[in-house]
Amino acid sequence: MQFSIETSGLFGSHPASQPPLHPAEPKPRPNARRRASPAQTRTGCAIVPVFAGHHLGTAGQALDALLDGALTAALERGDLADAANSVLLIPGNTEIQRILLVATVANRNAANPKNAKRKAAASKASLDGASTQETPTERGFQEACKTAFRAAFATGAHSVLSFLAEVDVGVPGDRGIEWNVQVQILAARDVSYRFDRLRSKRETRREPDAIGIAVSPTDAPTASHSLDRSLAIADGVALARDLGNLPGNLCTPTVLADEARALARRSGLKVQILERKQMEALRMGSLLAVAQGSDEPPKLIVLEWRGGERGAAPIALVGKGVTFDSGGISLKPGEAMDEMKYDMSGASAVLGTMSAVAAMKLPMNIVAVIPATENMPSGRAVKPGDIVTSMSGQTIEILNTDAEGRLILCDALTYVARFEPSTVIDLATLTGACVIALGHHHSGLFSQNDTLAQDLLRAGKDMLDTCWRMPLDDEYQEQIKSPFADMANIGGRPGGSITAACFLARFAKGYDWAHLDIAGTAWKSGAAKGSTGRPVPMLTRFLMDRAQAAATPAKPAKAVARKRASRAAE
Ligand code: BES
Ligand code: MN
Ligand code: ZN
Repeated sequence: MQFSIETSGLFGSHPASQPPLHPAEPKPRPNARRRASPAQTRTGCAIVPVFAGHHLGTAGQALDALLDGALTAALERGDLADAANSVLLIPGNTEIQRILLVATVANRNAANPKNAKRKAAASKASLDGASTQETPTERGFQEACKTAFRAAFATGAHSVLSFLAEVDVGVPGDRGIEWNVQVQILAARDVSYRFDRLRSKRETRREPDAIGIAVSPTDAPTASHSLDRSLAIADGVALARDLGNLPGNLCTPTVLADEARALARRSGLKVQILERKQMEALRMGSLLAVAQGSDEPPKLIVLEWRGGERGAAPIALVGKGVTFDSGGISLKPGEAMDEMKYDMSGASAVLGTMSAVAAMKLPMNIVAVIPATENMPSGRAVKPGDIVTSMSGQTIEILNTDAEGRLILCDALTYVARFEPSTVIDLATLTGACVIALGHHHSGLFSQNDTLAQDLLRAGKDMLDTCWRMPLDDEYQEQIKSPFADMANIGGRPGGSITAACFLARFAKGYDWAHLDIAGTAWKSGAAKGSTGRPVPMLTRFLMDRAQAAATPAKPAKAVARKRASRAAE
């Protein structure tokens, strides 16, 4: 599947890229290339957005003219349902073989008399200042993209040309062409993702060879840049999903280490794998305690991307890599225990992110540290009540061997300090309590650093890969006191995800730090069971933003503040 940016003659520019017209200024002359003959456009399936009131945009109108009004006829007949994200496939001609109409918002002003009342109410509401929904929400647009690509791929067309860049999203003018293209690419890659390598017979894929994203010539350079970056992110997401979906017998700590080596080789990263012996020498007593019950040797994976200046402090990513979490001696109940193969999703998201930043050649230094182990019961396994000494020197009473994530992360957080990072972000499928608190929509974000937290929140919003900030006050530290050691590894049921973060905070010293609990977001259970690749998009965006901020100091912050102020004033 190849993606490209196409400057189709049928296309009007993205609404957000049109400069606001000053009354004194003459209207810009239409770009000559934009008026190229529509017949130059060839595709197996054109994806055409339909707007509020079942109106067609520039591309849709041009196609309609080309097909003797077939699109408007179908719309007038009411063939496209009123609900947002409804799709309708219309036969085209030899050049444009199929047209897939997609409703970007619910149709409120259809000719249907049932809608007349609604239409009146809507226009009254708009007079009252309330908004009638003329543009899709950001998530609505993402859904429209997914639905449209899914339907277009299912037609069997060999090529697809999307005109979804015509759609303005959310607050008009807020999201530019770059964002629009990114959402389209990630949606297309998401719906085409398959994990079928473990089936003896694979289903034949019905998937186009070529996917074009139509944009105006003025938007093309920005769109191309966005395409490259979006594909890098999509590749990172796919890598994270593949590793997450691999079962525990095929994804051991050794396999994770081999994957890291392979990634390093193809992406130009530096890699180092620390073995048990080296962990012993470093006195990683907490990580080793978790690993001692397993027959699989633990690995500490270290990857480095040195795209920045020599000596510039790196940002570090730390990912929980428990390749199977049985709970250990504090054995988990059998139901859905298979899902604990995903307990290395922090690690796979770190690998996916490293793959993306290396593909983009981000001008910054990034270090990744992945403690990888199984958590198993055995005669040699760590027992409830055992007290171990972490690399930091702090002692831990292990009251529950199933709270193993924090036990391996704490030593990784101590270890990472040797890279003198400015910022450390750890990602972990750490607690069931986080799933109870936030469900499957937001990752839990814990940080004492407001700037870092804000930056992560914004990156998540931009990528529709959101996190939600949780508290991290010292009050909660009380719950992990131990009568025998410096701390216990559990703090009881109340605020379970917070006490887990408080445990980690005791080790995250000497750098800005944030913790992401991705237990609810890294994979889906149920019918659509599988790894999601989250939060690769959010993390990559965060790193891109940091690289950008370093390249252009002060300015962007001002521009953002100005934009915010003007939005607040509206
Ligand atoms: N890997 C689990 C967390 C988890 C549970 C992720 C369910 C996704 C779904 C973690 O190692 C764990 O077992 N945590 C315990 C902690 C408890 C013993 C304090 C939990 O959440 O039950
Ligand atoms: Mn566990
Ligand atoms: Zn776990």
